[in-house]
Amino acid sequence: MTVLSPRPDLWTLDPDVLHLNHGSYGAVPRRTQEVMAGLRTEMDANPMVWFRTVADRLTASRLALAAFLETDPAGFALVPNASAGVTVALQTLPIAAGSRIVLTDHAYGAVRYAAERFAERYGAEVVNVGIPLEADDRTVVALIADQLDNAAVLIVDQITSGTAKVFPVEALVAAAHDRGVPVVVDGAHAPALIDAPAAAGADFWTGNFHKWPAAPRATAGLVVAERWRSASMPLIVSWSEYDERMPERFDMQGTYDYAPWIAAPESLRVLAELDWPARRPQLTALVEEGARVLAKALGTGVADVAHPPATMRLVELPSSVDLSGGDALKIRVSRELKAEITFTGFEDRKFIRLSAHAYNSLADYEKLSEGLPRLLA
Ligand SMILES: Cc1ncc(COP(=O)(O)O)c(C=O)c1O
Repeated sequence: MTVLSPRPDLWTLDPDVLHLNHGSYGAVPRRTQEVMAGLRTEMDANPMVWFRTVADRLTASRLALAAFLETDPAGFALVPNASAGVTVALQTLPIAAGSRIVLTDHAYGAVRYAAERFAERYGAEVVNVGIPLEADDRTVVALIADQLDNAAVLIVDQITSGTAKVFPVEALVAAAHDRGVPVVVDGAHAPALIDAPAAAGADFWTGNFHKWPAAPRATAGLVVAERWRSASMPLIVSWSEYDERMPERFDMQGTYDYAPWIAAPESLRVLAELDWPARRPQLTALVEEGARVLAKALGTGVADVAHPPATMRLVELPSSVDLSGGDALKIRVSRELKAEITFTGFEDRKFIRLSAHAYNSLADYEKLSEGLPRLLA
């Protein structure tokens, strides 16, 4: 097996900073930034001409992104982010008064807020299923399936954010559909980490291209099962309101910066150049080794989440570390160690969530491990 070299040269990231949190906001490669800048220059050379060409360019981009997900382009729409995808799903599904919106205690905070907004609107109840961090796939399915009576919808993560755990989405969709319950899959982290991530047949699947595929921010996808396509409407009411074609209806969102959506396929070409199918397992080995090095330095361990994603790991923090100051500790690490990391928590445990992308090397994790124990002491 060829060992692929790290490629920080493809990015414009500050070389004096340890970038170990790709999972939050991604990082856009230089080439994609250049394509996007070129598009914006074109837009401002003649806005009238630009906006006449946008529809065809969006179609091309949509088809490329749908092909990357290996999903039917007829059910694939562009949305600004996973939060928007979940909101579209919840505004489309019928939610009866007295019914239940079921999610887990690993759900992303903003997705929980969306569930609460729609529960309040329709007089439904939000049900929070507790899933132990170490739960295996069978346990996850059993715990969730047990809570699906009278459910209007199950919202489930494909890869959780705070706990970096892969959920068995295919089995969960099957269990929910057996009980007649529609499923929304929050696949915010799934593109480029899980192949054909929307293949499980959920009613709605949404995922971000601006995370692991390193596309420009505000580029996400929504995959809608055939039965919901005619009822699915974009969040912004615009000129495509009466377009009967589902994906096209989501394209035109008024006067808007479409450059990120149009430039996104350039990042897919960068992934191809990075030999992504071969690189991803190497990034898995890298993040595992990096997490081991950091855990050893901190005198803790790497959390057992049963089924971790390809490129993220949780390193346990010493129990003495105080995270009650919000972002204060993260800001200290950023300023004093020139390192970007994120802290997460679950139940009463606290973690650092480490990421690995093609610009990282083991030296990044080693350097963090040299400085962090002293800063946390
Ligand atoms: C699991 C999960 N869901 C939803 C989101 C929201 O994504 P966005 O902020 O792009 O809407 C995130 C973002 O990190 C996430 O990790």
